[in-house]
Amino acid sequence: MAFLFNSDAARGAIFREVFADALPDLEVFQSGDDVAPEKIRYLLTWTVPEDIARYPNLEVLFSIGAGVDQFNVEVVPSHLKLVRMVEDGIICMMQEYVALGVLALHRDILAYQEHQRRQHWHALPARQAAECRVGFLGLGMLAQAAIERLRPFGFPLAGWSRSEKRIDGVTCFHGANQLPGFLAQTDVLVCLLPLTEQTHGMLNQDLFAQLPEGARLLHVGRGPQLDQTALIEALDSGHLAAAMLDVTDPEPLPQDHPLWSHPGVMITPHIASVTQPHTAAQAVAENIRRHRAGDELIGLVDRTLGY
Ligand code: NDP
Ligand code: OXD
Repeated sequence: MAFLFNSDAARGAIFREVFADALPDLEVFQSGDDVAPEKIRYLLTWTVPEDIARYPNLEVLFSIGAGVDQFNVEVVPSHLKLVRMVEDGIICMMQEYVALGVLALHRDILAYQEHQRRQHWHALPARQAAECRVGFLGLGMLAQAAIERLRPFGFPLAGWSRSEKRIDGVTCFHGANQLPGFLAQTDVLVCLLPLTEQTHGMLNQDLFAQLPEGARLLHVGRGPQLDQTALIEALDSGHLAAAMLDVTDPEPLPQDHPLWSHPGVMITPHIASVTQPHTAAQAVAENIRRHRAGDELIGLVDRTLGY
């Protein structure tokens, strides 16, 4: 019985080291190693290898990332379990990035950067955190962790999800019917939705129009969720004040794309959160232990929902 790590060798070496301790009876291979395909039970990868059918005894396909939209599930046999990455490193980095983004948007950092370029010394009207309502599209693992980190600042917090949630101190909305009510009371909108058929193109003109005048966007989900033209129009009309984008479509944007130089936009190159090999190896080892014991896997993907 063996585990195959299909990514860079340096991270693979860390997995091998952690597994030697946590699962000493499990053989660990890296892509390129000479291994009999029928030995492989567990595969960790970013995309589904084209030759996945080579592994007749594969049981679990682990994603290296928290998202699984990059998996072409059409080619994944239906009996395989798909598991997204749930690990402390990814969670901590997302907490940092969302705190950074919400504070930067709340404190008008993009406008001040533009002022600095023009050597313009001018204080904008300041608001207290208590007057700036932060709303999360998606209330999953990462959004809930980010909410915990934001709590001490005193922002009024809200979120929207598919199913109903109850989170202390957070106004929770769910389902399509409650989306307008959620948007109408959101000054900083944080998108932490998975990319699915339902969320594709969701950040569009219609959605922006439902946000209060001067609202801001922090997009950390996936590029194709955002209609980039609609964002530029909403910024240019003044309806939206600023946007921070960690994800775009495509990645990177073409050199002449207007988002690169838009004064109301800050772009980071999909670095909000990155899987950390030590903690990820521990999390995957725990899931393999659970799988062997017949216990529920952490981060199991529901194929019918697509996340
Ligand atoms: P989870 O699966 O834990 O949470 C997803 C949330 O989105 C859930 O609350 C879910 O609702 C909600 N949701 C999904 N579809 C809909 C819908 N149609 N309508 C309303 N709500 C919906 O995911 P994570 O928190 O772990 O990750 C979220 C995403 O963040 C990832 O899929 C990935 O795309 C992105 N990401 C980005 C990174 C970056 O560096 N920029 C790094 C890591 C992740 P419910 O709770 O009811 O199921
Ligand atoms: C992820 C990502 O899904 O890095 O983990 O976006």
